[in-house]
Amino acid sequence: MPPLNVCLVSSEAAPFAKTGGLADVSSALARHLGKRGHDVRLVLPLYRRIAQGKWKLDPVPGLQDIPIQLGARRTWFSVSTTELPDSKTRAWFIRCPDLYDREGLYTQDADEHLRFVLLNRAAIELCQWSRWAPDVFHVNDWHASLIPLYLRTVYGWDRMFANTRTVLTIHNIGYQGIVGAEKLADLGFEHAPHLLHQDHLREGKISFLETGLLYADALTAVSETYAKELQTAEFGMGLEGLLRARRDSLVGIVNGVDYDVWDPRHDALIPARYTPKDLKGKRACRDALLAKYKIPAGPRVPVFGIVSRLTAQKGFELVAEAMPVVLQREDVRLVVLGSGEDRYERFFTQLQQSFPNKVAFATGYDESLSHSIEAGADLFLMPSRYEPCGLNQMYSLRYGTVPIVRRTGGLADTVEEWNGRTGEGTGFLFEEFKGDAFLNAVARALGLWRDEKAWAKLVQNGMAQDFSWEKQVLRYEALYARLLGRGA
Ligand code: ADP
Ligand code: GLC
Repeated sequence: MPPLNVCLVSSEAAPFAKTGGLADVSSALARHLGKRGHDVRLVLPLYRRIAQGKWKLDPVPGLQDIPIQLGARRTWFSVSTTELPDSKTRAWFIRCPDLYDREGLYTQDADEHLRFVLLNRAAIELCQWSRWAPDVFHVNDWHASLIPLYLRTVYGWDRMFANTRTVLTIHNIGYQGIVGAEKLADLGFEHAPHLLHQDHLREGKISFLETGLLYADALTAVSETYAKELQTAEFGMGLEGLLRARRDSLVGIVNGVDYDVWDPRHDALIPARYTPKDLKGKRACRDALLAKYKIPAGPRVPVFGIVSRLTAQKGFELVAEAMPVVLQREDVRLVVLGSGEDRYERFFTQLQQSFPNKVAFATGYDESLSHSIEAGADLFLMPSRYEPCGLNQMYSLRYGTVPIVRRTGGLADTVEEWNGRTGEGTGFLFEEFKGDAFLNAVARALGLWRDEKAWAKLVQNGMAQDFSWEKQVLRYEALYARLLGRGA
């Protein structure tokens, strides 16, 4: 198809600023759309950690010190760019120390909403100031969800956007960006309150995500199963009615994997490289991982891995129920990397104290260790309560690390239960969000572990899976083409 101008707006992008999968996805999607010949601008805030990082940031002439009024707050922003590593696509950063020069990506500060109002408005204004008309504004999660309505209100006068279409991707409906209705003017909607969700406005609330769901031309969810789940009360988190009403505009597109970054054949962050044909390197990765934490283990002792944000979404209640039993009964090891809620950090700290020779827990955020666990573990645990897509199970498959997952969202779409009769399947799944069900899946996995030949087949099946972005990017392209009324 003819090249499009695509403005991709996200609160995270790897390797610049990442707390979870959103960063991997927005950056990989930008790069792969670029490879397909599209002119892509990936827009995100210039957080302190990016400003202080090693990046060569080029200020964009004509896009410096632009004043902007956000309710009562007057501030200024500038735009800098840098190349996304290994690509011709550029990331565009909104520099505004007043709002972004802070410790974390996200804050609990009273002006948090303004930080993302600015992201939305600056993304639009940088297009205006550089007279670059996007064919598609592709916005991600609540942080960028106001753009569709801004294009009809605050920036509705600008004919440059007359043919621009908007796509909103839902990565996680658990975060909606809900603010009090007194923020109406901060958001810039004081002249358009009738365009917001009326019942919620009366209740005193404005939701960034809901506003996006009302006005984006197309909606996507990051897996087919999640697109369906979102329309139910169990998963829709209050937005299920709206999503049902818009179901004709909602599609599920499973995330791709950036195999340039996540593949043991060439991963520079792991101690040894390996291929499906020669897994010696995987054993070296396992030994190095256990040695790092001084955990003794013979060669046939299975190692479980977890890399995760520690939040309720990820199902750690089930780990707390099942894993002490498994660790007590079986000769197994567990290496965990995660940071997040205190209660889960405490749980893993205690688990490590109870089983000092079997469990290692690393807190904090560690990109390199996340790769080493993917490579060094034999089994990977993701008993998520809900999982829009999940990337780690797909990374695990490529690294020959067998995933044990709950059958929900993208986990259901990307892991297939091992079938001993046919020799097909890539992992172990369980349905009910119950400790027993999880324990049972772990027991099935450990049962198969003893059968070396069957296990080797299971590992090979996983490593042969292809979730590459080269394929998935075509689905987004087809969606853009449909929206723009052009043949793909
Ligand atoms: P989510 O986006 O819900 O956190 P995903 O499975 O889509 O879940 O993506 C998680 C991403 O974040 C993966 O790339 C994973 O390796 C990474 N990650 C999560 N926690 C950490 C951590 N503590 N250190 C390093 N990487 C992490
Ligand atoms: C969200 C989801 C995760 C998904 C990621 C990228 O953070 O929790 O399941 O893989 O976004 O789309």
